[in-house]
Amino acid sequence: MRKNIVAGNWKMNTTLQEGVALAKEVNEALKGATPKCDVIICVPFTHLASINAEIDQNKLGLGAENCADHKSGAYTGEVSASMVASTGATYVILGHSERRQYYGETSETLREKLALAFENNLTPIFCIGEVLEERENETHFEVVKKQIEEALFNLSAEEFGKVILAYEPVWAIGTGKTATDDQAQEMHAFIRSVIAEKYGKEVADNTSILYGGSCKPSNAAALFAKPDVDGGLIGGASLDCASFMGIVNAF
Ligand code: 13P
Repeated sequence: MRKNIVAGNWKMNTTLQEGVALAKEVNEALKGATPKCDVIICVPFTHLASINAEIDQNKLGLGAENCADHKSGAYTGEVSASMVASTGATYVILGHSERRQYYGETSETLREKLALAFENNLTPIFCIGEVLEERENETHFEVVKKQIEEALFNLSAEEFGKVILAYEPVWAIGTGKTATDDQAQEMHAFIRSVIAEKYGKEVADNTSILYGGSCKPSNAAALFAKPDVDGGLIGGASLDCASFMGIVNAF
């Protein structure tokens, strides 16, 4: 069966010292707790090794926010999937809308990144979602389907089964404007049907699909109560231990 998951995406926030302190705080909050979901934090590359040394990954998973689309070599400033794995991290966010929007990531580069993530035993948290204009002109289903088909449908069923999906409507990210729980459910059910068409119902039913975009303690319970919403990918609210734990405890 699919897992419930709450994952933090810290984005470009916190110094190393602040990040280690936050990770320790979350790790401490999870000690002795039995949340009804897996809990993961995805943090800046610079923080990974230090945070890995401080947390219990049986309780708190650790991931990067991106990785390079090349294995190694003359790509100044890039961080490879094998470098990420060598820090002890086991997850990687791929295809976040901020990467697509500001760094020109395409389905083609994302296919390379996915292959390298698998090669290095990193579990991809793969992001999809439409921009406001696409929602308004009602092409959002088409857009999301295309993102999935182009980047993921070359994967074997076994590989696809390892992917965590995150539906993040771009108009809801960092705007305070959350998709309603009905809007999230409608899209998540659609995504599951797209997966079922390609890989069959069993794979679709076993895929965790997270919602992301202004998710906070006050709206998480209603979102997570929807049958096809299996958790959240949390930006802003993951930078504060109490609000992140508030979302974790919404399950
Ligand atoms: P916010 O929770 O800050 O809206 O960000 C969502 C997000 O982009 C997570 O990847």
